[in-house]
Amino acid sequence: MKLALFPGTFNPPTLGHLDMIERAHKLCDKLYIGIGENINKSNELFSIQERIEMIQKITAHLKNVEVISFNGLVVDCMKKNNIHFLIRGLRAFSDYEYEFQMAIANRKLSGYETLFLMSSQNYSHISSSLIRQIGYFGHTLKDFVPESIEKTVLSRLSSKKQ
Ligand code: COA
Repeated sequence: MKLALFPGTFNPPTLGHLDMIERAHKLCDKLYIGIGENINKSNELFSIQERIEMIQKITAHLKNVEVISFNGLVVDCMKKNNIHFLIRGLRAFSDYEYEFQMAIANRKLSGYETLFLMSSQNYSHISSSLIRQIGYFGHTLKDFVPESIEKTVLSRLSSKKQ
């Protein structure tokens, strides 16, 4: 059994994340989606539980996907859950340097390998912070987040403006 982890902050999850998950789950027997903390980012907007529920909703059609959350290092989460490798997406060349550093650090810390998937062209411009800006001003998010969570994301973001 090959178990993989697709970690991220998912605040909120996007069409780009879903595209990654739909491609990555075919490369392993089980794909964990791990909601972790990036200490350089604010944790505001959606709670961990809300993010878990949104990802469960958008991946309900994928039977070998499970959503988990973790505190601390991603490699410790992998050890705890007997996960074998990491999957990360690369959207543009600008992602490369940061991803390269993380992949090397994770391998040094634990020996775990990171597998990179290139983001689909349709989604390579998307990021969670872009969505936060667009939604804040009440604009439709239909080209950015899965339809099943669009209302939830939009209503939370536009309520921040009032
Ligand atoms: N499509 C669209 N957007 C995507 C994407 C895709 N395929 N892949 C990533 N993104 C976006 C995200 O929306 C996010 O946007 P934002 O910066 O505007 O919020 C951005 O790209 C990258 O963020 P994310 O994928 O959430 O990763 P991250 O760089 O914030 O890292 C963790 C999150 C949890 C994986 C990482 O911080 C971590 O491992 N933390 C634990 C501590 C640790 O072990 N660190 C590594 C050891 S050095």
